[in-house]
Amino acid sequence: MTTLYNGLQSLIWKDGKLDLLDQRLLPEEIVYLPLTTVQDVWEAIFHLKVRGAPAIGIAAAYGVVLGSHTASNLQEWQEAVIRDSAYLATSRPTAVNLFWALDRVKAAALRLAGQSITLEAAKEGLLQEAIAIQSEDEETNRLIGEYALSLFKDDMGVLTHCNAGGLATAKYGTALAPFYLAKEQGMSIRVFADETRPVLQGARLTAFELHQAGIDVTLICDNMAGMVMSKGWIDAVIVGTDRVAANGDVANKIGTYSVAVLAKAHGIPFYVACPLSTIDLETPTGAEIPIEERSAEEVTNGFGKRTAPEGVKVFNPAFDVTPNEYVTAIITEKGIIQAPFKENLAKLFHQ
Ligand code: MRU
Repeated sequence: MTTLYNGLQSLIWKDGKLDLLDQRLLPEEIVYLPLTTVQDVWEAIFHLKVRGAPAIGIAAAYGVVLGSHTASNLQEWQEAVIRDSAYLATSRPTAVNLFWALDRVKAAALRLAGQSITLEAAKEGLLQEAIAIQSEDEETNRLIGEYALSLFKDDMGVLTHCNAGGLATAKYGTALAPFYLAKEQGMSIRVFADETRPVLQGARLTAFELHQAGIDVTLICDNMAGMVMSKGWIDAVIVGTDRVAANGDVANKIGTYSVAVLAKAHGIPFYVACPLSTIDLETPTGAEIPIEERSAEEVTNGFGKRTAPEGVKVFNPAFDVTPNEYVTAIITEKGIIQAPFKENLAKLFHQ
């Protein structure tokens, strides 16, 4: 199938290094950073040069490849994989895709080491695993996009929060995938993008990538969502997620919960789009999802200048949890899941 997606790729493995699009600089500057060490990758994840649950997982997988590359024998190589996975797991706490991808490369390393192969073959095998994580994400997102699009009609208004687009994934995104597919099929969907304070992923990234692709996107400040809903301009909300608990509670960018409550108050369906790698059956409810808190400066100095008094107390959680009763459906690569979420999510993994 031909594709209209012509967005920037957030991660490119090339000539033994990871070329990473520095998302902090968008939309003003397009800069690829050559990452060559596991420390480079940790730092890129921590400082949001790469962000978005699937993209973080992909970056971490390449980070393990970079970290273990200098090993001079198989045992050293295996130790490096374990050590670097543990190190990268400390970069951000909420997106479960990070831990999922690290578990996957660790399992691949164990498998490879058990095959009595050469050190070079083991290193190449691990790289192929990281490449597979990236390319499978692209396939997965197209499927998510197709399922999501089946819920939308021509000329609908759809609101999204944060950035769950091509920049947050290998390609297409999760919540933004249906908009790319709609464009490809000649459908017109009017997208409303919340700017997403404090880091402005909606303004800097979602508005940027959709606008660049010629998709009808209107940027609003976060506190305008209720108003545009009350005007009848929004027929559905779709967001991505960093972790879905076993009971269907959803952690996503701070502000998502408020949007979900507003959607329910206006009788608007609230959809969550994610790959299976974002669903964490080990975490029973949203209350157990670790919520990252970030620096006060993101809130007080977010616009290139100080916008709050020196010394004021700041609370800056990067994510919130939307209880499952606000979620109309979770859209995955295996289909559209509705309540009861606990039973239906468990079934999804046993199919
Ligand atoms: O802090 P960020 O920018 O990494 O937060 C990203 C989000 O909350 C996304 O909605 C989520 O990771 C899904 S990306 C497909």
